[in-house]
Amino acid sequence: MANVAIMGFGTIGFGTAEVLTKNSDIIAKRIGEPVNLKYILDIRDFPDSPYASKLIKDFAIIENDPEIDVVVECIGGTGVSRDFTLRAIKAGKSVVTSNKALVAKCAPEIFPLAVEKNVSYLFEASVGGGIPIIHPLTQCLAANNINDIMGILNGTCNYILTQMSQKDLDFDVALKQAQKLGYAEADPTDDVEGIDTARKIAILCSICFNRHVISESIPCKGISKITKDDLAFASCENYAIRLLGRGVSGENPAIFVSPHFVPSTNPLYGVNDAFNSIFVDCDMLGTSMFYGKGAGDLPTASAVVSDVIEAIVKKALPKKAAWDTQNTYSVKGQSDFVSRYYVRCSSLPTIDGIKLLSGGNGIAFITLPMSVEEIEALSSKVNAEIYMPVMD
Ligand code: HSE
Repeated sequence: MANVAIMGFGTIGFGTAEVLTKNSDIIAKRIGEPVNLKYILDIRDFPDSPYASKLIKDFAIIENDPEIDVVVECIGGTGVSRDFTLRAIKAGKSVVTSNKALVAKCAPEIFPLAVEKNVSYLFEASVGGGIPIIHPLTQCLAANNINDIMGILNGTCNYILTQMSQKDLDFDVALKQAQKLGYAEADPTDDVEGIDTARKIAILCSICFNRHVISESIPCKGISKITKDDLAFASCENYAIRLLGRGVSGENPAIFVSPHFVPSTNPLYGVNDAFNSIFVDCDMLGTSMFYGKGAGDLPTASAVVSDVIEAIVKKALPKKAAWDTQNTYSVKGQSDFVSRYYVRCSSLPTIDGIKLLSGGNGIAFITLPMSVEEIEALSSKVNAEIYMPVMD
């Protein structure tokens, strides 16, 4: 029998306990032995939980229990989660996580330690919720050079944009619903300002380009300034607005996060609510697309438990880091990126000394294709409130 401990009994921790319990038979068949959920670590009390008997508050119990094979880290953040992860690995336990902040920031510290201790550090649930994307990139597409990767990577933002557009909800109301449904981060600023998407595209690009991408260096725009008028303008022109993380290969890969106008002819147009989708363009396979539920307790726990199964099944095999963490990459910019842009100004701009006098309180338009430097210059010239790429 294999023994597992969960750290953090929030949305994903609870979902993981549910998947391990409800699907225990099929999981045992796939591993060849049963999995026992021995402990759940949390500083809070859950007296009414069906898992109350497993709750503990002291990490040292997990650390010092030689029966624990796998620790599932669902604490989030990069503080206690980092400390417990490093201590669990030092104690010879595999660690599985949904924590994209920790993977994006601390991979250079965690990966080599896991290799040295020959334990697994697995993070399928950190990007795309339940969608298999980490294993496809590290294994199934390993024979390819990856040219481009692009995706809707934040369920909260996609839910908000869909609800604002289709149900005419205000931003705040849609965000509250996303929080209630368990999609949003503890601090939803990370979702709506694109920071969560930046961490996820950093992880994907680190795998694709085999360098450690510094997520804080990624140019990042979120959705908090998008209004119903922007969505209505997009809809009239047969576009949807979607927050995308993008990575384009090269000596200095262009990696960025921004809302985009996505045309109705693009499959990402139909990706609604908390669903995520990721496009990968490789030299041998060509283009492939991954789609599924990108947030929520059971979808994310589905990916967590798949990693638990792998950690147990592959316990005796030698381990390898998912990317070269010694080779760090700070994003240099988007020098080769050219696009049309949607631009909205809150007041009528003055262009080259010409003051526009009519057209209401604001103005929105789509530019010709231009570079990032050109749109930045235009944006400042016309006092743009918001601008975003328009995809062909
Ligand atoms: N807050 C995240 C999202 C959770 O909305 O996508 C899944 O990573």
